[in-house]
Amino acid sequence: MSQVKTLSRRDCLLFGLGTVVGIGLHSAKEAMSQSLLVSELSRSRSITPEMAIALESETQSLKQRAAAKGLFFGAAARHRDLLSSQSLANSYIRECSVLVPEWELKWAAGDLPLRPNLDRFDFTRSDEMLRFARANGLSLRGHALVWHLSNPRWLRETLNPSNAEQLLTSHIRTVAAHFAGQIHSWDVVNEAIEVPDGRSDGLRNSLWLESLGEAYIDLAFRLTAQVDSRALRVYNDYGLQYATSSHESKRKAALKLMERLIVSGTPVQAFGIQSHLRAGETRFDAERLRRFLKDLADLGLKILITELDVSDQNVPANPSVRDRLVADAYREYLDVVLDEPAVIGVVTWGLSDRHTWLSGDKPREDGLPVRPLPLDENLERKPAWWAIAQAFDNAPLR
Ligand code: XIL
Repeated sequence: MSQVKTLSRRDCLLFGLGTVVGIGLHSAKEAMSQSLLVSELSRSRSITPEMAIALESETQSLKQRAAAKGLFFGAAARHRDLLSSQSLANSYIRECSVLVPEWELKWAAGDLPLRPNLDRFDFTRSDEMLRFARANGLSLRGHALVWHLSNPRWLRETLNPSNAEQLLTSHIRTVAAHFAGQIHSWDVVNEAIEVPDGRSDGLRNSLWLESLGEAYIDLAFRLTAQVDSRALRVYNDYGLQYATSSHESKRKAALKLMERLIVSGTPVQAFGIQSHLRAGETRFDAERLRRFLKDLADLGLKILITELDVSDQNVPANPSVRDRLVADAYREYLDVVLDEPAVIGVVTWGLSDRHTWLSGDKPREDGLPVRPLPLDENLERKPAWWAIAQAFDNAPLR
């Protein structure tokens, strides 16, 4: 094996490159492209071309590592965070090939709804996110056309069996059509399964189910296919990855639902596994997860990891211990998931600990800020970043 291949990050540091590596990686020098940096370095007398190549591989972003295996890497962001900080925006541009609006394509999330009333749609923020994505070479992933949460009050108050089909149809015909040809993939239906709701088919008693029955799922996929045939059509859900009885039941219900849809000709093309993980969770069974992925793949579905993050709510306070446990969870999970050839990409639910829904949803009892994402609050790479990077590096080529 050549020296180039055996050079590790530690080796680079030992060779005295540490300070040089440092200047290339962080926001102050973001303007300097990696390849420029590498060619600069290889011109320097003290650095051999082999060392420069090793350095280049050290500095590769997550999107580059994913792409080297035929995968994509992306992250979710809120308009107000992304477009108010150039350094945060630069991190998305550097690391991601896919951007997911965390709020802006839901019917209503945050203070500015996409559909403020029955007759009006407001694409201001989502259009700006699309413009940002396109200007910087990212694709936009759509989340979500149908969900039981983040709905405007007017919808919850007016939806009934006689207007539901018309409301869903006008929504998808307007929103999916507005972005037709420009969306990487749509979460057409989000979180339709809730086993404890007591139905034998495992479907959630949502506002859509109550007014349209289970036909709302088929309708949503058909409408999306009609207006944007190019976006990959995804069914997306959570609570599927652990060896607990609730996750086991949900996996079963999910497979049954996918089978029913496919048999009846519903144009679903992919399954999104949200993947909100927990650091320190021991109920992880690689074989059961592999089986689930294989079962989905056998149905002809592509698989996306759509909302990956790792809650550090219940692990020790020490930041380096926490970061290690979070990184371990990323690595253990991705090693299994990326082994399945039907998996086409990974999206994290946020990119930097500076902005994460978990600070509100799963805060720590000791009040310390949570650290669930690949970059820390100063946009520096954490052990979680390296865990994802190594999982991509080890993944089989698609
Ligand atoms: C979350 C957002 O991150 C929060 O900011 C918002 O308040 C609620 O929704 N599953 C999903 C996502 O499909 O849309 C959710 O996003 C997280 C869980």
